[in-house]
Amino acid sequence: MITTRDFSEVNPMLARPGEPVSAPKSRLGDSELLPETAYQLVHDEAMLDGNARLNLATFVGTWMDPFANQLYAEAFDKNAVDKDEYPQTAAIEEYCWRMLADLWQAPNPAASLGTSTTGSSEACMLGGLALKRRWQNRRRACGLPIDQPNLVMSSGAQVCWEKFCNYWDVEPRAVPITADRKVLDGSALDSYVDQNTIGVVAIMGVTGTGLYEPVDQIAAALDAIQLETGHDVPIHVDAASGGMIAPFCQPELTWDFRLPRVASINTSGHKYGLVYPGLGWIVWRDRSLLPKDLVFPVSCLGGEAPTFALNFSRPGAQILLQYYMFLRLGRDGYARVQQSALDVAHYLASAVDQLGPFELWSQAADTPVFAWTLRDPDQRKWTLYDLSDRLRMRGWQVPAYPLPDDLGHVTVQRIVVRNGLSMDLADRWLKDLRDAVEHLESPEGEAPGRTSQPCFHH
Ligand SMILES: Cc1ncc(COP(=O)(O)O)c(C=O)c1O
Repeated sequence: MITTRDFSEVNPMLARPGEPVSAPKSRLGDSELLPETAYQLVHDEAMLDGNARLNLATFVGTWMDPFANQLYAEAFDKNAVDKDEYPQTAAIEEYCWRMLADLWQAPNPAASLGTSTTGSSEACMLGGLALKRRWQNRRRACGLPIDQPNLVMSSGAQVCWEKFCNYWDVEPRAVPITADRKVLDGSALDSYVDQNTIGVVAIMGVTGTGLYEPVDQIAAALDAIQLETGHDVPIHVDAASGGMIAPFCQPELTWDFRLPRVASINTSGHKYGLVYPGLGWIVWRDRSLLPKDLVFPVSCLGGEAPTFALNFSRPGAQILLQYYMFLRLGRDGYARVQQSALDVAHYLASAVDQLGPFELWSQAADTPVFAWTLRDPDQRKWTLYDLSDRLRMRGWQVPAYPLPDDLGHVTVQRIVVRNGLSMDLADRWLKDLRDAVEHLESPEGEAPGRTSQPCFHH
């Protein structure tokens, strides 16, 4: 006779009496499941996700060491907004943004102000809101209208800036990138900036190409505009990726708070900050740049803590992980990790360049990111989308996408090198790339043809 105990030991699972063979997907099940059954169902479905380490499309951290994993497991219950219950997490958050203010060369880090966020997108929203409110307050004080704010940026800006403008009724003014001018470099700014410009976004690590925008040239152009028109326009630097690369690998670049026009800077802790997903940072040069009426006191959880955030509750564990990484690596360690990502990116970029069918659009000279186009696309029976599909068959995610606006006819493919893409793995990828190209060039190569949205909008 089979007992209940025997049933629970039947292997594989999902074959026991009363056990579902498929999980409910559109309404709650009528009754409960055993925890191991529910676990297996969720686990099996998640198993079909891609292999994060083979995803060369994302900037987001997919590997941390065992001590970080242990810390994560100890801290997953912490709520970052509850500063009364978790005062040390709140203190650690402050250590981190103060370290960033110092790293980004704030003239007086003690006067700076910062916060963690869920990622760069939220950080950019907060940066944009502070720009907008300061512009409104200034104009209101002079009795001037405040109904037509605009924000100037490159057409290659990440989608979070388009969202910011859409959600908070700000006109986006995109300066188009071209084949000769691949980034916003300040040269045409005077025809975009006016009395209603709340700020200019400069990007340290353009998402689609990895290129830095010359923040010093943008600042100089704005200085000239101020001399001529009196418009004093601040800069927010979106350093989602470059904020944790440039200070270590290109210390000679002047892009940060050394430029007086730079009001605020964001970065993603979960990109080159080397932390798992769910963490961004923003720092203002000094507290006067964040209008007080945007900061809310939170008192319902005990104590009283000021917050400037879009969400209320949010995981606190990533903040501890960031501090762990800052302690663990220090400046030398970050420089070594980022330089090795740059070395792998240079190696891959030069191999892609030498292969024959490709031309580099960007060379991983700034961040460890590079993009390429297909030579003579009209004379080939395959596209970069086909190549992307072939690589996908080997598990690699290497997206192809059109460039924005005026360059919409140009399709590029991009690789983001992160900590964890070793030279060995890079060589495996190169072999798979060569095989894929050989197949596509051969008589069996397919030519389905396909188009896609720019990656900036994903
Ligand atoms: C320049 C830039 N800004 C903002 C973002 C959005 O960052 P997050 O994914 O941390 O919200 C990205 C993401 O790739 C980015 O590259």
